[in-house]
Amino acid sequence: MALLELCRISHHFSGVRALGGVDLAIEPGSVHGLIGPNGAGKTTIFNVITGIVRADAGEVLFKGRPVGGLSSVARARLGIQRLFQTTQLFATLTVDQHFQLVGGHDRGWSQRLELNPWLGLRPPELSFGIARQVELALVLSRPCDLLLLDEPAAGLTGEERQRMASLLRTVRDSGTTIILVEHDLDWTLKLVDRMTVLDRGRVIADGRPLAVAGDPAVRAAYLGEEPDGLKGLREESR
Ligand SMILES: Nc1ncnc2c1ncn2[C@@H]1O[C@H](COP(=O)(O)OP(=O)(O)OP(=O)(O)O)[C@@H](O)[C@H]1O
Ligand SMILES: [Mg+2]
Repeated sequence: MALLELCRISHHFSGVRALGGVDLAIEPGSVHGLIGPNGAGKTTIFNVITGIVRADAGEVLFKGRPVGGLSSVARARLGIQRLFQTTQLFATLTVDQHFQLVGGHDRGWSQRLELNPWLGLRPPELSFGIARQVELALVLSRPCDLLLLDEPAAGLTGEERQRMASLLRTVRDSGTTIILVEHDLDWTLKLVDRMTVLDRGRVIADGRPLAVAGDPAVRAAYLGEEPDGLKGLREESR
């Protein structure tokens, strides 16, 4: 059974269609990429899944149970967590105080990510890469079966991106399913197990990353160019 299912989800903002009947199934234990041009509806889907936006039509099922009527807080308690695109840390709290005041009970990830040297520092004293890891460890300190990530690699250096990719594989292998919105196709293609492409509020392709990236409709949505990441993967698989 899929961990999360969206069935015929539609949503309009002031009469303008953001989502037009989206079906999406997320397999447990996968990293699922959600990609598409600007305005395709990716963030709106995250908002529908977390309950920030109530869809006009359609159903959201989590672990087989409809959650469309639940608040964001209730959905988080069921294990749906999210990392926002911009940092949500408090400038006046140390890293340790974050874990004490806003974190959950499980500090295992803060140890695994070797965050001890930073515990006494405040967010303005951290590099962006470390701040991102602190946020990830905080999210994972709460019950987290499904993690939604909005561009987790944006703004990171090359080395930090590598570390983030291997970190997300470790998170997946520990039992947390991930949906990843990302603009860097190269990075995404190497990381995800499945991929869905949205364009103007509709799903235009869905499946294994290599097949999806080679799909003519996907290439057309990306201005007819073969994504760089696809070329790289082809060369590696030779
Ligand atoms: N709060 C809102 N009010 C009005 N229109 C909105 C609102 N949020 C999103 N939209 C519109 O809905 C459509 C989908 O937007 P969304 O933010 O989901 O796209 P996206 O795929 O996340 O794009 P990006 O890659 O630029 O972040 C766009 O046309 C956008 O302008
Ligand atoms: Mg967005």
